[in-house]
Amino acid sequence: MSGPLVLGIETSCDETGIAVLDGMEIRSSVLASQVELHARFGGVVPEVAARAHVEAIRPLAHRAITQAGIHPNDLDAVAVTKGPGLVGALMVGYAFAKSLAYSLDVPMYGIDHMEGHLLAPRLSFADYRPPAVVLLASGGHSQLVHVRSWGSYEILGGTIDDAAGEAFDKLARFMGLGYPGGPAIDRDARDGDPTSIEFPRALKDRPHDFSFSGLKTSVVTWLESAKAEGNLPPRADVSASLQEAIVDVLVEKTFNAVEATGVEIIGGGGGVLANTRLRERLAEEADRRGVGLFVPEPGLCTDNGAMIASVAVDRMAAGAPGDDLIGDVDPGLRLGA
Ligand code: KG4
Ligand code: ZN
Repeated sequence: MSGPLVLGIETSCDETGIAVLDGMEIRSSVLASQVELHARFGGVVPEVAARAHVEAIRPLAHRAITQAGIHPNDLDAVAVTKGPGLVGALMVGYAFAKSLAYSLDVPMYGIDHMEGHLLAPRLSFADYRPPAVVLLASGGHSQLVHVRSWGSYEILGGTIDDAAGEAFDKLARFMGLGYPGGPAIDRDARDGDPTSIEFPRALKDRPHDFSFSGLKTSVVTWLESAKAEGNLPPRADVSASLQEAIVDVLVEKTFNAVEATGVEIIGGGGGVLANTRLRERLAEEADRRGVGLFVPEPGLCTDNGAMIASVAVDRMAAGAPGDDLIGDVDPGLRLGA
């Protein structure tokens, strides 16, 4: 064994994710997705999410431990998402983690979900290290972070309205592509022409900030007038064009941050980093500029338990004690605050 054995639990939104890490090596990582449950409502329903976590968590933890080939008593620590996220959903994972840690008499580490996304590339790449600029883009957050060292995070910029994933989700819903919208638009866009419609790229004068709500309005208005004129283009062209508008801005601002900080390493995390076109464009640009790009496989960009455990592995290596078992979740937790 190369490191502590840590069970990581993620329940901040609509995926129950549980993993066992041996140091930075993933021994098992399992997921109970609630996508089908929420799809008929067109988005995540908090109470439905919390209840589904309750049902999934115990058998899923059992599966993670069994697949890792260990006994619960072998665990050295339990890590769990403390925030940000949906309060009811977070509480399920947190209560479960506390009782498990208590019964096994091991420390419990409450982890910031976004720090999990930020550190996740280490699970795939041994040479991902600070100083780095990290693009975090998920359903609830879009941020550019300057990582001076692990644990020292300067937020360079973020969204002033909707998160990138939220823009994908809302636009997909409007276009009848269903929930979650990001993967649906990603798939639909493959057959489309990204240059066919010129949607706006907002906030050009703020190098590290994003704004996506104007794009939403402009796509809706554009489609309504095209429809009124009886001139609707193929849906794939609309998907490809709006995806390109989101990706353009994410890529441009990421490299603005690289220039401003002078770092040579870029990391990426959060569900939107699973986007095929974003990955392609980041890779092209990183290559052109000779900087290192560390975006893990799509399954480690979207929510998972391994990224949560990975932060705890780091804390343990630094000798940090576990959290107080009388603590609570923090739905409004903010990275770097
Ligand atoms: O990180 P994540 O799994 O959960 C949150 O912490 O929010 O991110 C989920 C978000 C959703 O908005 C989803 O539509 C988006 O990530 N997403 C994508 C893709 N896969 C997931 N967006 C664009 N392209 C994708 N392939
Ligand atoms: Zn996430």
